[in-house]
Amino acid sequence: MKYNIHRAVVIGSGTMGAAIAAHLANVGIPVVLLDIVPKDSDDKNKIVKEGWERCLKAKPANLMADGLKTLVKLGNLEDDFGAVAEADWVCEAIVENLKIKRDLMARIDEIRKPNAIVSTNTSGIPVKDIAEGRSKGFKQHFLGTHFFNPPRYLKLLEIIPTADTSKEVVEFFVRFGEFTLGKGIVLCKDTPNFIGNRVAFGTGAFALDFILNNDYTVDEVDSLTGPLMGRPKTATFRLIDLVGVDVWDHVGKNLAPLIPHDKLGQKYLAAEKPRKLMDALLERQWLGNKTKVGFYKEVRGEDGKKEFWSLDLNTLEHVPAGKPRFDSVKAAKDVEGLGDRLKVMLGADDKAAKLVKALTYQGFQYVSSIIPEVADTAKPIDDAIRWGFMHEAGPFEIWDMLGVRETVKQMKKEGYPAAKWVDEMLKNGVESFYQYKNGDKVGAYDVAKKKYVKLKQPEGFVFLKDFRGAKKEIVSNAGATMFDIGDGVALVEFHTKMNALDDDIFNITSEALDRVEKDFDGLVIGSEADNFSAGANLFMVVVAAQQGMWDQLEGAVRKLQGLNMRMRYFPKPVVVAPAGLALGGGCEVTMHASRVVAAAETYIGLVELGAGVIPAGAGTKEIMRRIVNPAMRTDGAEVFPFLQRAFLQIGQAKVAASAEEARSMGILSPQDRIVPNREHLLTEAKREVLHMSASGYRPPAPELIYAAGRDMYGAMKIGAWSFKE
Ligand code: NAI
Repeated sequence: MKYNIHRAVVIGSGTMGAAIAAHLANVGIPVVLLDIVPKDSDDKNKIVKEGWERCLKAKPANLMADGLKTLVKLGNLEDDFGAVAEADWVCEAIVENLKIKRDLMARIDEIRKPNAIVSTNTSGIPVKDIAEGRSKGFKQHFLGTHFFNPPRYLKLLEIIPTADTSKEVVEFFVRFGEFTLGKGIVLCKDTPNFIGNRVAFGTGAFALDFILNNDYTVDEVDSLTGPLMGRPKTATFRLIDLVGVDVWDHVGKNLAPLIPHDKLGQKYLAAEKPRKLMDALLERQWLGNKTKVGFYKEVRGEDGKKEFWSLDLNTLEHVPAGKPRFDSVKAAKDVEGLGDRLKVMLGADDKAAKLVKALTYQGFQYVSSIIPEVADTAKPIDDAIRWGFMHEAGPFEIWDMLGVRETVKQMKKEGYPAAKWVDEMLKNGVESFYQYKNGDKVGAYDVAKKKYVKLKQPEGFVFLKDFRGAKKEIVSNAGATMFDIGDGVALVEFHTKMNALDDDIFNITSEALDRVEKDFDGLVIGSEADNFSAGANLFMVVVAAQQGMWDQLEGAVRKLQGLNMRMRYFPKPVVVAPAGLALGGGCEVTMHASRVVAAAETYIGLVELGAGVIPAGAGTKEIMRRIVNPAMRTDGAEVFPFLQRAFLQIGQAKVAASAEEARSMGILSPQDRIVPNREHLLTEAKREVLHMSASGYRPPAPELIYAAGRDMYGAMKIGAWSFKE
C-alpha cells in the first residue's frame, strides 16, 4: 500500500491538537506533539507540556487508558521539528491565523517525506488558501481534517480535499479515518466552515435571536431543545457553555464575512440583541464551563448542595432553575419515535410549540438553502449533524419523517419557505429526500441531477437489518433472536430493555449453542444497540435474598454459571462483541467468550457490589483465574498484591472507562481485539469467528483455580470488615 500511517506529528497542543494526539494514541499510533517555544521561560517545552497536562486532566478523558501516554512524545518547534521528516501524517492544529498557518506549511514542505500527508484542522480558513505557494507534491498530499471537540467522543470527521489533493490520498484518508480512527467521515467541499459548523451557526444564530425576541428563559429553551427534539441533553445553552462562549462567538464572527451570499445566515449572524448579549458575557468573562459561569452558574444552595442557576436573559443575573411546564410537552414527551413526537409539538400552539416550530422550520429552510453550495444531496448534512452534534436524526431525515410536502406548506405559512429546489423536487413527483426500501435508505435526491443517486452500501458488512424477518432469523423470543449471518456463522442478539439478562436471553443463547454445535462453525453474541448488556436484574436478586428465596436464586445463578462455562469450553468459537455498557452479568458473559471483539468505547465491569451482592455468574472465578492464578503458579511470588487488586476491583465495583482500560484490568485478555468503529463491530466479530474456525480453534483446557491460603483469607476478611465499617 502506498500510504499508511505509522508515525504522526501533531502541531499545536491547544484544545484540539492535544486531544487529537491523545486520540491517535488511543488507536495505537505513536505521535510527536509540538508547540511553540515560550518567550518567558527557560523550559522550551513549557507550552506543549501545559497543553498536554490540560488534555490529560480533561473530563471526559481524552485518553482511553493511562498506559497509552507512552505513545505521545512532547517537543517544541525549534529543537524537535525534525520529527516532521519522519512522519507519515502531519496534522496542524495551531491558532486560527492564515499567515501563521502558511508559514508553518512552508517549513513542513521543506522536510516532509514524499508520501507524507499534511492536514489542517482549521474550522474557518479556506483549506486551499493554507496550501498556497507550496510545492506540487505538498499540495497533492494536503487536505483539511476537521475534528469535532472532543475528538475521542464526537464521531464526525470532516475531510476537505482541495482541487489539488490527489484522489488516492483522499481515498486513503477516508478509509484511515473510518477504520483506524473509528470516525464517521463526511467529505466536504471547501466552503466556509464546511458543513457541521455552517449548519450549527446558520441555525444557531437564528435560534438566539428568536429566543431573545420572544422572551424565552434559558430553562425553557433547554427543556425544549434537548431529547424532546431528538437532541442531546446539552440542548442549546448548556452546549454553548460547554463549547465556550468565546469559541462560539469567534466561530460566528469568522463565518459572517465569509458568506456574504448567504442572506439567511447574514440576517441573524448580525442581529443586534444576540450581539449585545454575547458582548456582555465576554466582557464579564462568563465563558461557560471553563470559567464556571456562563448561561449557567454552579452555586451552593442553603443546605450546601450543588445547584445550577441559569442566566436571566433580561437582567443578566443568575436565578434558581425554574421547572417549565407546557401542555404541548406533556402531550408529546412520552410519544415514541422522534417524527411522531415532533408532530405533536408542531400541531400545538402554546409557547413551547412556537419555539419548536420556529427552530424546526427555520432549520429546514436553512439546510435547504445551502444545497448545492455545501453538498449535492441531503446525506452529508444529515451525517454531519448526527455525528458532530449527536442529534438522533439529521434535518432532512426528520423532514422526511414529517412528510416533505405537508411540511413545506406549513413552513411557508410560518414564514420560513424552503429553497426553490425543494418545490421543484415535489413538482416532479419526488416526495422525499431519501429513497427507501423496506425502511432502509437506498438513494438520496441529487439536486443537480434532479433524481435519486444510489447510496453505496459497504460490501461484506454485517448489518442486522439484512437478516431480520427473513429466513435468516432462526429462533426468536421477546428477549433475544438468533440469526444465520452467513458463511457458517450464527449470531445471538439480545433485545430486552437495556439488554438486561433474563430467562428469554438464556433460553435463546443456550438453544443457539445447541444449534451451532450441529449446524454452524461458530457464534457471535452482540447487537447494534448502544449497550451490550446492563447485566442481570440485581434489584430482583437483592429482594429475593431478603425474602430468603434461596432455591430460586440458586437456580438463576446456576443458569448463568452453566451458560458461561459452556461457552468457555464450547468446541467451536464463541465471539462476544460488547459495546457501551457491559455490566455485571454482561461483563461475565463477555469474560467467557472464546475471544472478545470489543468496541473501543466499551464500559465494562463487575458492578454487583454496588447493589450489595457478589458477582456469582462465574465473574469472580474469572478474576481469580486471570489476576491471582499467575502469581499462585509462580514459585516464591508474593500473592497478596494480586489478591488485593482483584479484591478492590470487585469490592469497589470498578467499571473500565474503555476497552483498552478493561484490558489493563484483566477483563479483556491480550488476544482479545478492540475495534475503533462501533459500526464495524459485528463485521469484525464475524471475521474473527471465521478466522478462528479456519485456523483450527480448540477450546482451552480446564485450569485449576488456586486457593491462596489461610493468611490471605484473613486479609480479605479484614478488608471486607473495614469496607463494612
Ligand atoms: P488553542 O488556542 O487551544 O490552541 C492553539 C495552539 O496554537 C496553542 O497550543 C498555541 O500555543 C499554538 N500557537 C500559537 N501561536 C503559534 C504559532 N505562531 N505557531 C505555532 N503554534 C502556535 O486552539 P484550538 O481550539 O485547539 O484550535 C486549533 C485549530 O483547530 C484552529 O485552527 C481551530 O479553528 C481549529 N478547531 C477548533 C475547534 C475547537 O472546538 N476548539 C474544533 C475544530 C477545529
